[in-house]
Amino acid sequence: MKNINEYLDFAIKMAKEAGEIQKSLFRSNSLSITTKSSLTDVVTEADKRSEALIISEIKSRFPHHSILAEESGITEGEKEWQWVVDPLDGTTNYSQGLPVFSVSIALRHNGETVVGVVFAPYLDELFTAVKGGGAFLNGTPIRCAKKPELARMVVATGMPYDRAENPDNNLDNIENVVNRVRGIRRMGSAAIDTCYVAAGYFDAYWEMGIHEWDVAAGELIALEAGALVERFRDEERIAELVCSPDAYDAFRPLIK
Ligand code: IPD
Repeated sequence: MKNINEYLDFAIKMAKEAGEIQKSLFRSNSLSITTKSSLTDVVTEADKRSEALIISEIKSRFPHHSILAEESGITEGEKEWQWVVDPLDGTTNYSQGLPVFSVSIALRHNGETVVGVVFAPYLDELFTAVKGGGAFLNGTPIRCAKKPELARMVVATGMPYDRAENPDNNLDNIENVVNRVRGIRRMGSAAIDTCYVAAGYFDAYWEMGIHEWDVAAGELIALEAGALVERFRDEERIAELVCSPDAYDAFRPLIK
């Protein structure tokens, strides 16, 4: 295994290059917005070009590594090393000209995430972590919040793309939470949500129906900042809770 920081630097380089593509097309007429699973699930030229760039760089530098990426699925390779990539997390925001979007790149070694990078190009926020090395925002160490009282918490969530057809669409949880906390936010990028728990900007984030590529990097960043990460349901669909330890006892009973 190389020095873990070499992988980190490589992931940062790819995230920044993808971020340049995203900024160059942002709020332009060249987005080529198309839909995927439904009319609510969109993909843009920036998603495709960012993913193509990241995959080609991984293949050229680490030809034997496997890759799981949002738009192209699995690229087979050695099981030992796997890159988990969301080239543009927050595509709905991006396609609307809203600045909350990010590149999320994680590296797993034998199934365990060892590097996490989330870069929000428009906000110029780079979140990074390597396992056991702490979490950072633009090079400065971050820690999660320390608020035990619900009434002082600001929390984030999201709703699944199939929310109109699937009654298990998180609205019951939102209804249960909304009047008990200071504020609830739907930022539109799960990767940024998890990093904002890491930085103490949110006390908790939860969502169901997300994918590994949405949260693989953010989970490590949150853990390294002292947060708790829980897959809170025993089902194939991912139900994710990222929470500061001080918020957990009061917040956890509110969601199911
Ligand atoms: C989406 C965002 C959003 C979350 C969705 C994700 P995408 O990722 O993270 O915040 O609510 O569940 O799918 O599709 O923009 O990469």
